Amino acid sequence: MLESDARDRIIVAIDCDRDRAMELADALEGHAQWLKVGMTLFYAEGPQIVQAFKERGFKVFLDLKFHDIPHQVRGAARSAALAGADLMSVHGLGSGAMLAACREGAEQAAEVRGDRPNLVAITVLTSMNQDALAEIGVTDAVADEAARLARLAQDNGIDGIVCSPMEAESMRTLLGPDAWIVTPGVRPAGAALGDQSRVATPAQAIERGASHIVVGRPITGADDPVVAYEAIVSELVAGVE
Ligand code: C5P
Repeated sequence: MLESDARDRIIVAIDCDRDRAMELADALEGHAQWLKVGMTLFYAEGPQIVQAFKERGFKVFLDLKFHDIPHQVRGAARSAALAGADLMSVHGLGSGAMLAACREGAEQAAEVRGDRPNLVAITVLTSMNQDALAEIGVTDAVADEAARLARLAQDNGIDGIVCSPMEAESMRTLLGPDAWIVTPGVRPAGAALGDQSRVATPAQAIERGASHIVVGRPITGADDPVVAYEAIVSELVAGVE
């Protein structure tokens, strides 16, 4: 894989407070292309944190996992897109109408900013197992439920999904070559697992069909985040055709 391509496929999850987030952004500027802002950082800092990353030249995955009535999700998607997000997440469970509203909100923002962010759906949270699905009345197998929600998302204008590297291959087959397939649960060989259990290396995740990988603590918790980031770039350049 080309180096520029590798850089475009690695999304660094910045799950920390503002001071550390800005420190990491300053260090990774000129190396990383994508940063991911989750709920913890966004609810503390608001849209300014997205703008601060954009000003430093990063693309931003705003991972707020929208899930509400369609009217609210339409507005949330528009607002988040106007904050500058390049990629945003939405829960597949909220219905086809809610997913379509998410797309509409992103398109409304495009009238102002010129383009729309890409959208990915959460299918079944990887923290949920069969028992947790049964608690909410879903008796289908986890994989079947995830596939149904992925198709529902695609049918309603969502560009792809977030899933574990273990599901990337079947999701690629299901959704086709153009879908965004974003996989957390990625650990370079030898890295600490943290609270992730079913993991793949960056090259494995891409080979199984991920278009983008999300890597947090192996980079943000490293003694030198730039060295850790560049090691992943090198792994993709060397390990993926
Ligand atoms: O530090 P680590 O590499 O485990 O970070 C992974 C990121 O991906 C975190 O921001 C986490 O919230 C997110 N994520 C995940 N598993 C999912 C969905 C999102 O780890 N199923």
